[in-house]
Amino acid sequence: MAIISVRDLNKEFHITRKNHGFMGVVRGLFSPQYEVKQAVSGISFDVEQGEMIGFIGPNGAGKSTTIKMLTGILVPTSGEITVNGRIPSKHREENAFSIGVVFGQRTQLWWDLPLIESIDLLKDVYRIPQDVYKRNVSFLTELLDVGHFMHTPVRQLSLGQRMRGDLLAALLHDPSILFLDEPTIGLDAIAKESIRGLLASINRERKVSVMLTTHDMADIEKTCKRMIIIDKGQLVYDGGIDEIKRRYGKSRKLIVDFKEEPQLTGLTSAYVLWREGLRVAIGFDKDTISASELISQVSKRNELADLTIEEPEIEAIISEIYENGIEQRRSDLREKVVL
Ligand SMILES: Nc1ncnc2c1ncn2[C@@H]1O[C@H](COP(=O)(O)OP(=O)(O)OP(=O)(O)O)[C@@H](O)[C@H]1O
Ligand SMILES: [Mg+2]
Repeated sequence: MAIISVRDLNKEFHITRKNHGFMGVVRGLFSPQYEVKQAVSGISFDVEQGEMIGFIGPNGAGKSTTIKMLTGILVPTSGEITVNGRIPSKHREENAFSIGVVFGQRTQLWWDLPLIESIDLLKDVYRIPQDVYKRNVSFLTELLDVGHFMHTPVRQLSLGQRMRGDLLAALLHDPSILFLDEPTIGLDAIAKESIRGLLASINRERKVSVMLTTHDMADIEKTCKRMIIIDKGQLVYDGGIDEIKRRYGKSRKLIVDFKEEPQLTGLTSAYVLWREGLRVAIGFDKDTISASELISQVSKRNELADLTIEEPEIEAIISEIYENGIEQRRSDLREKVVL
């Protein structure tokens, strides 16, 4: 059975419209004016034990709202959720015992207390038996490398240290699922890499299912096999990251430095993307023409000084899906000028 099951999930927010002027206020007394914001629309998916899923989408897509419904903080307007067989909004406390939650934007640690004291308090909150507590603190302290700032007040920690402290707090009670909402936000490249490595090893070693939202595609690419994309509250993709690369990442860029002004007429299945002096970027679709075929066509008429081939980054593929939708995504190539 799936550890998380979501069926036709909807969330509407009712925002009270401000009434201006005396008559507006009076009118508002008789018929309150609501604006309905549909944050999540008909989302369904399942998560199996031990999966690690990237949950992505542009700003305002409904990611945090969905995570909040999965953790029981928000009640769905309609639809069904089960997490470990429970309905989170109805069994909020029991649900909290089986999940770990990290919101990158704010901490669940006590700001003025040293990390160790926050951790001690959580031991009581989660009623963690002494032996389990000892084992987990020692395992996680080592894994997360938090030993040297255990006695520092949380407010004095760097963002990266605090995030590791938050991970410690979220994992203390052996949750089977970890929800992370932007755990790498604001971190530098090295701290991001370290958090990615930690998440991957927690998932691998403890078989914890992980659901991760982020705007950094490298987080997803380095840790998850599966990706769920939502946009305007709707699910637009649920599947493998490799599959999305195969499906949408067929365009290639051949960048050539020529020794002299190149002759590029008469090439087939390739397109000039840009030119800078003797450097020319040529776009092609790898299913239409192979790189070696294209190189041999180009080098027949010209002397080459250097060349490189670039694949599209997942980042570029995803931002195009955000812009054009998943089906309408057009390849860069089609509308470029034929050589
Ligand atoms: N408490 C709320 N009251 C009213 N509207 C809300 C509330 N929370 C979220 N929304 C709206 O619901 C939509 C989805 O917001 P949500 O925070 O889930 O997006 P997100 O995908 O997490 O975006 P981001 O990447 O910016 O964090 C947005 O239009 C937002 O303005
Ligand atoms: Mg959010």
